[in-house]
Amino acid sequence: MKAIAIAEGIYRLGVNLDSTHLFEGMWPMPDGISLNAYVVQGEKTAIIDLVEDIDDKPVEFEQGLNSIPLRAQDIDYLVVNHVEPDHTGWLPALHRKNPKMQIYITAKGAAILKAFWNITENIQVVKTGDTLDLGGSRELVFYEIPNVHWPETMATFERHSGILFSCDAFGSYGMITDTLFDDQLSSAQYDFFMAETRRYYANILASFSIFVEKALALLQPLDIKMIAPSHGLIWRKNPQEIMDIYSRFARYLHGPAETAITLIWSTMYGNTGQVVKAMVEGVRSEGVPLHLHRVPHDHVSFILASALQSAGIILGMPTYEYKMFPPMAWALDMFDRKKIWNKQVLRFGSFGWSGGAQRELEMLTEKLKWTFVDPVEWQGAPSEEVVKQAGLQAKKLAQRLKEGEVG
Ligand code: FEO
Repeated sequence: MKAIAIAEGIYRLGVNLDSTHLFEGMWPMPDGISLNAYVVQGEKTAIIDLVEDIDDKPVEFEQGLNSIPLRAQDIDYLVVNHVEPDHTGWLPALHRKNPKMQIYITAKGAAILKAFWNITENIQVVKTGDTLDLGGSRELVFYEIPNVHWPETMATFERHSGILFSCDAFGSYGMITDTLFDDQLSSAQYDFFMAETRRYYANILASFSIFVEKALALLQPLDIKMIAPSHGLIWRKNPQEIMDIYSRFARYLHGPAETAITLIWSTMYGNTGQVVKAMVEGVRSEGVPLHLHRVPHDHVSFILASALQSAGIILGMPTYEYKMFPPMAWALDMFDRKKIWNKQVLRFGSFGWSGGAQRELEMLTEKLKWTFVDPVEWQGAPSEEVVKQAGLQAKKLAQRLKEGEVG
């Protein structure tokens, strides 16, 4: 893919990974993902982040570099915002081609560089506020944003153009093909990228929402004209909007999310499944938006995205061997890891000889700050009365969310 000029002397170099790949080896990407790097040219030339060493992507990436035109040997500075291999896979090969290139990186990043590739020379360790003057009215300023997404991560700001190279922050799933900027999208494309931005946050950054808030506070005072992440769109229409969206996602760690319910259900022989319809109708009778998932059928990647934005969660699962139905337990383990906190939760489900799922659910989710409404549990097949009661409980949960009684 050819490099695309995003400002005078500043280029986006990108490749796409398609849907055959799993991000981080685990997250599905039905529409792939882009890996973005950037070249900033003043009197000297810097490249910010690189590309994963997968398939023939480094070859494609270097072709993009040549289209500027620029050769690997012409690069004066490599800025490593983040050492994760989706952005540094090509680093050892580039270093062999251009060993004199100066590498700008945080102290923690430098330690990883040494551990992974034993690269220790021409390293410039930077911290927040340090600068790199490229001449020709191009000056890079570095900002440490630890844990957004790894402890070593930083963002780089080009002072004169106002472009923030934010690495993983503000990124999304989805390949970049004919549109690179948010202001070029149709409304359908915009909705797609906003949904994939949310899913990316839920999968990759939700564990670190406290650090996202710190990063936002650090970056907020900058006069940002454009945000250029390492995945997905470049945000130039209104960069503040995506920062506000991130602020909202991060706030869900401390309090209720949107007035919406994510209903996740599972069933063994259909006795719990028979009650789903009543639950759906109970929520919809109050006009509260509903996101519906089934486990183990739906990947937890998508469930996390729905749950992140929902103040209410309904879990349909039977008791299995005196505990939670295992596919639901696996999904909820990821809720714990990704800090899906502060939810108002209703569980429904059947049992054979004795219950136990509710007890384990409440015990294992204690640190998630979930508040439970009375569950709907029954032995064997659901009676008409059980179905009616389920619908009423779902309605009650929806009403409580609307009344702002969550949290
Ligand atoms: Fe896109 Fe955390 O790497």
